[in-house]
Amino acid sequence: MSSGADSSAAGGAGGTPMNPSDVKGTKQGNGGAGGTVGVFTWWADGSEKLGLDQLTRLFGEMYPNDKFQNLAVAGGAGSNAKAKLASDLQAGNPPDTFQGHAGAELTDYINAGQIEPVNDVIDGLGGEKVFPKDLLDRLTVDGKIYSVPSNIHRANVVWVNNDVLTKAGIDPKKAPTDIKSWIADLDKVKASGIATPLSIGGTWTQVELFETVLISDLGPDAYSGLFDGSTKWDDPKVKTAIDDYAKLLTYANKAADGDDWPPATDMVIEGKAGYNVMGDWAVAEFTSKGKKDGVDYSYWAVPGQEGVYDFLADSFTLPKGAPNPGGTKDWLNTIGSKEGQTAFNLAKGSIPARTDISADIFPPYQQWAMGEFKKDKIVSSIAHGAAVPVAWLTAIQQATSKFMSTRDTGAFQSDLVNAASDALGG
Ligand code: BGC
Repeated sequence: MSSGADSSAAGGAGGTPMNPSDVKGTKQGNGGAGGTVGVFTWWADGSEKLGLDQLTRLFGEMYPNDKFQNLAVAGGAGSNAKAKLASDLQAGNPPDTFQGHAGAELTDYINAGQIEPVNDVIDGLGGEKVFPKDLLDRLTVDGKIYSVPSNIHRANVVWVNNDVLTKAGIDPKKAPTDIKSWIADLDKVKASGIATPLSIGGTWTQVELFETVLISDLGPDAYSGLFDGSTKWDDPKVKTAIDDYAKLLTYANKAADGDDWPPATDMVIEGKAGYNVMGDWAVAEFTSKGKKDGVDYSYWAVPGQEGVYDFLADSFTLPKGAPNPGGTKDWLNTIGSKEGQTAFNLAKGSIPARTDISADIFPPYQQWAMGEFKKDKIVSSIAHGAAVPVAWLTAIQQATSKFMSTRDTGAFQSDLVNAASDALGG
């Protein structure tokens, strides 16, 4: 397979990053199975759609016989898409392929018998030689691999407006050491005249913010223990995290349950907020609005978790009963290829799941993230399906949404305790 993904093809460290549209696909075999391939995602608009567009273009170049059909349902983190998908699958009306998160969320579909193994596709792409083993483990049950990963995202990133912080007397490039010192900086930003120093979006973005506070206050090992019962949700450190989270919300804008993520990130882009905790799809938003890394904005791991990578990965499935399984495999081969992962991740802000793509052709953010992913401790994101199955996540979302209006810390903790005991049977 030809590759536009070699570092010799572009840039080089510190040079100009490669342009995603310069990655070219070559026709595979006789050009694909033919027919329509319905691809279900939540990358419906904005910078996320730009990433999907790169995949679509390459799919057309590699498999010209196939016709891409966009089945995207808008709403970040699949907030609307997952419900529609669940009812389509229930009704025996699956798309040809759908986006799912590696980890617990995928096991929901596996346990329900809704997706087929794709070991042949993974093996054809290079298996463990090109995908990290611990990522493949998160896609595997009983030796069967159930999806093809397209990318790896990091959820625990703070995005910073350089001007806003500088005016408040804070060095935007220096991360505070812990949540308490971050709170001291939030006070400074507020005192400088910014009414909402921290921007938030709807419920899932709040869950993401809360999970990062849990990581800081519990540490990565105890945080990971929350999902297998070895850390109890009534632990005093969970109470500390809830108190810190409650305090952080006092610096935030008002948000309704369904508010999406781009307006929250845009508040930082436009200087209406100093900080936004958001997965690294945010970098694509900064780029698409013409903002310059290090000049207009900075980023660091959420305070107190230097060396911890709060991980999630998008991956694509072969649903049982997919109308065009041959076309599905063509799509899976596209997103799993070196070309597909290069063009997609350049546009999306994530890093390739494949390990054989050079960091040199990526912009500075992804170069940083690729370096961190190799050395950091990896934990799983709650908000993005890696740590907990859909039913448990739904209960956590309901508790988080309720807390947003009541701010009752005791009730929040007991709702979280109940959600865990329903899920773990404790
Ligand atoms: C997905 C990302 C997406 C983000 C916001 C996450 O759950 O994994 O691909 O950009 O949600 O929609």
